[in-house]
Amino acid sequence: MRRDIVPISVGAAATGLIFREHALRSQAERLSAATMETLLNAIDANDADTGSHVRRVASYALILGQAAGLDDRTMHSVERVALFHDIGKLHGALTDIFHESTKLTPEERRAVMTHPIRGAEVLAPLSAFYPELDKGVAAHHERWDGSGYPRGLKGRRIPLTARVVAIADSFDAITHVRRYSPGRSFKVGVEAIEAGKGTQFDPDLVDLFLSPSVQQRIESAMREAHSPRKKNANRRRGAKKAGPDITFRWRPLSPGSQSRDRQR
Ligand SMILES: [Fe+2]
Repeated sequence: MRRDIVPISVGAAATGLIFREHALRSQAERLSAATMETLLNAIDANDADTGSHVRRVASYALILGQAAGLDDRTMHSVERVALFHDIGKLHGALTDIFHESTKLTPEERRAVMTHPIRGAEVLAPLSAFYPELDKGVAAHHERWDGSGYPRGLKGRRIPLTARVVAIADSFDAITHVRRYSPGRSFKVGVEAIEAGKGTQFDPDLVDLFLSPSVQQRIESAMREAHSPRKKNANRRRGAKKAGPDITFRWRPLSPGSQSRDRQR
């Protein structure tokens, strides 16, 4: 062997490769989180009420998902579907309708019902990376008994992410003040979810939602989301935030979330 060639040990080469792979993976994860954060910022910029709504829905959905024993991968999927389920509402054709304070006409109602598909279309370029995302968003208004929209999917044909998010979404729509209705109490929200068991919602997930430990966590998340003191703290924390935060550390609220909004 020539003296000027220093043999590299197989061990050192393998260690180098592992470090390189780790660095590449962590960069990919950061890019992914940054992409999601950018989308969330776009929602905030268009409609802060929707931005606040989707964060509350994400917090409730993750509590339910955790109680259901979902693995980390599925929990991330649930989080993404929750955060972007209403992105289709920002479509130019629907913005005015969602911001009107009068009752919807049948034609407007039909237009509103296009928002899950419009959302899925917006998110379609991400489907190579997150195959569950556009499918879950498209299905968040499907109902367990098959009477939902847009496809009338029934039971377990509805993606799990959408079944979890549907419960969280409805609970928030009932308990948070909106343009055309006051925010109802925690108890009323829970009763509405219970009433939809087996018709609107997955019965097993409703049972979990009604379990004492989940109820306790949802109630405390709801109080936290509606507390002005907490909101201000989050606002201050948000100002200092340096990087993307969609890694189970979503910002629970953004300024103005107590304002009147129209969520569905
Ligand atoms: Fe929706």
